[in-house]
Amino acid sequence: MLVILMGPPGAGKGTQAERIVKEFSVIHLSTGDALRAAIAQGTPMGKLAKEYMNKGLLVPDEVINGIVAERLQQPDVAHGALLDGYPRTVAQAEELDKMLKELGKYIDFVVNLEVDANNLLRRLTGRRICKSCGSSYHLEFNPPKQPGVCDHCGGELIQRPDDESEEKVATRLDEYFTKTKPVLHYYAGKGLLHQVNGEDSIDEVFSSIASVLRGAR
Ligand code: AP5
Ligand code: MG
Ligand code: ZN
Repeated sequence: MLVILMGPPGAGKGTQAERIVKEFSVIHLSTGDALRAAIAQGTPMGKLAKEYMNKGLLVPDEVINGIVAERLQQPDVAHGALLDGYPRTVAQAEELDKMLKELGKYIDFVVNLEVDANNLLRRLTGRRICKSCGSSYHLEFNPPKQPGVCDHCGGELIQRPDDESEEKVATRLDEYFTKTKPVLHYYAGKGLLHQVNGEDSIDEVFSSIASVLRGAR
């Protein structure tokens, strides 16, 4: 099963991805997480990506397509994959189609989490992520059992640099509306798009996504 999880910054992609990969035994491919790992390791790609990410801008398509092409060739993808935060431009969506054709794979579902812009800001400013495993929490909506500590791995919870100022968040939303929204039309045109209300509770959103992935229409 190949699933693309879409939605604006803060819509809950990472939060839902954690649950989907457990329930459906697919790998989680988050281009955002991959870039943050490259930054932490100080690789040349990480250094380049950091300049864009810290301003809230999308990283160039070639860099991102390279990450995805490499990951999709690994053997554990055979059971299925959940793409989180990719594709984010129509050019990336077209490149993904080419990659999948070569690999003999196809997209089963594109799920879009719909959340109002006002709520996105609250979600992003209250978010904390685990420095070690990347798990996402929210001070108010999804607090960890122990403040500042990851439930899963005991890692330290920090604020993501691109969540730190309203200006960066505004740039990310702007990038989303101009470059990523058109990708929804691309997939709607192929009959693959499923809209899910992302405003509900985390459990309710998960249950809506699970219904889509189980083929219930
Ligand atoms: P990326 O890491 O993908 O960030 P994003 O798209 O901005 O999305 P977020 O991770 O911020 O939000 P999310 O939807 O995962 O929400 P979450 O579950 O954490 O990308 C970062 C950057 O990398 C980009 O800006 C770009 O520079 C670069 N990049 C990545 N991919 C790229 C690509 N393909 N092309 C080019 N550049 C790329 O939830 C948010 C908060 O809300 C959390 O606190 C959570 O606890 C809370 N929450 C979640 N669900 C609910 C709910 N139902 N109710 C209440 N609270 C909730
Ligand atoms: Mg995320
Ligand atoms: Zn952790």
